[in-house]
Amino acid sequence: MQRIYLDANATTPLLPEVLEAMRPYWTESFGNASSIHQQGQQARAAVDRARESVAALLNGRAAEVVFTSGGTESDNLALFGGMGGTLAAGDHLITSCIEHHAVLHAAEALAERGVDVTFLPCTAEGVVEPAALAASLRPNTRLVSVMLANNETGAIQPVRELADLAHAAGALFHTDAVQAAGKMPLDVKALGCDLLSISGHKMYAPQGTGALFVRRNVRLQPLFFGGRHERGRRPGTENVAGIVGLGKAAELARTWLAAGAEGGDGKPESPQALAALRDRLEQGILAQVEQSGVNGGEAARVGNTSNLYFDHVEAEALVIALDLKGLAISGGSACQSGATEPSHVLTAMGLSPARARASVRLSLSRLTTEAEIDCALVLIPAAVARLRELSPSWQRSHSSR
Ligand SMILES: Cc1ncc(COP(=O)(O)O)c(C=O)c1O
Repeated sequence: MQRIYLDANATTPLLPEVLEAMRPYWTESFGNASSIHQQGQQARAAVDRARESVAALLNGRAAEVVFTSGGTESDNLALFGGMGGTLAAGDHLITSCIEHHAVLHAAEALAERGVDVTFLPCTAEGVVEPAALAASLRPNTRLVSVMLANNETGAIQPVRELADLAHAAGALFHTDAVQAAGKMPLDVKALGCDLLSISGHKMYAPQGTGALFVRRNVRLQPLFFGGRHERGRRPGTENVAGIVGLGKAAELARTWLAAGAEGGDGKPESPQALAALRDRLEQGILAQVEQSGVNGGEAARVGNTSNLYFDHVEAEALVIALDLKGLAISGGSACQSGATEPSHVLTAMGLSPARARASVRLSLSRLTTEAEIDCALVLIPAAVARLRELSPSWQRSHSSR
């Protein structure tokens, strides 16, 4: 069976060019980047080149990039380290209720240590409004952390305005850009952020790689203690091959983001082409399936993400039914699969628990083809129709018409 993968927000496939770039660092160039002999220097040079590539993707300086093990570590380093490591009970942290658990649970852990934490609400479209932040800032606010693109809906947050408000109040600003990197242009200067997290496996690099941008002059406390790696901000022998993969993926992302035209093989060769493919999928489903809609569809969104509800359908059942037909989608964020709680993002947007449980996420990748979308446009409406036939609430609502 040909399998179709529409779950790129959970993880992206590794690009062949990325694998090729990494391969030598597992074989002949296996050196430790801290060693002074030739093998070590080769590894060091590769790490330095990757740092330049990641900095270029973010429009930052190489010295401002700290390599980590992924988005979760970058977020934790930003929150714990960005609070300066000298937490006084009563210090204030502001974040939002639509963050990934890497930020939400870190904020909760800080709250247990005596930090005062405010969780900003969002609009019905899943957007955190600057007015909500303005009303929550206090003289003791040390850090504000609001994500750039939401992992479930793709909604892009007004990060520049939020960062300006945070700075005017004397606080640092962190953004979790894990779901934005490689999907939209990123510019740490234009965004005005002090700290920014990215993750390799959401941008066609391997799992277990990531980076935190730390603006020059921001004092960051490390989470770990050990050697002087990453200028003491993240001790531990570098994952050279992984870092090289992240650097290559950053380079490829820059090229893709700069591209304007659609290629001939049906794969989206530019952000605009990817968004057009997503829109075709979304509109094609809505046209065929009654009592369905887009969650957060009015917000500005990254071009690969679509969060859809199908009333009277359990998301879990739909994910399983489609998986059996060869189509991989998600019932929410990957970290929640198996949990019966409705998505915290969708409920924060005001969806009823029933509608949140009837919602699925489709997330395309740069490798998604037109033919795969054609296939999904057949499989999804058919699976929804079959599940509704089995749904007592659907039967009731239809027999009473
Ligand atoms: C918005 C966001 N932040 C952080 C993470 C965690 O990243 P990682 O899986 O690299 O730890 C994810 C992963 O889904 C995410 O979507």
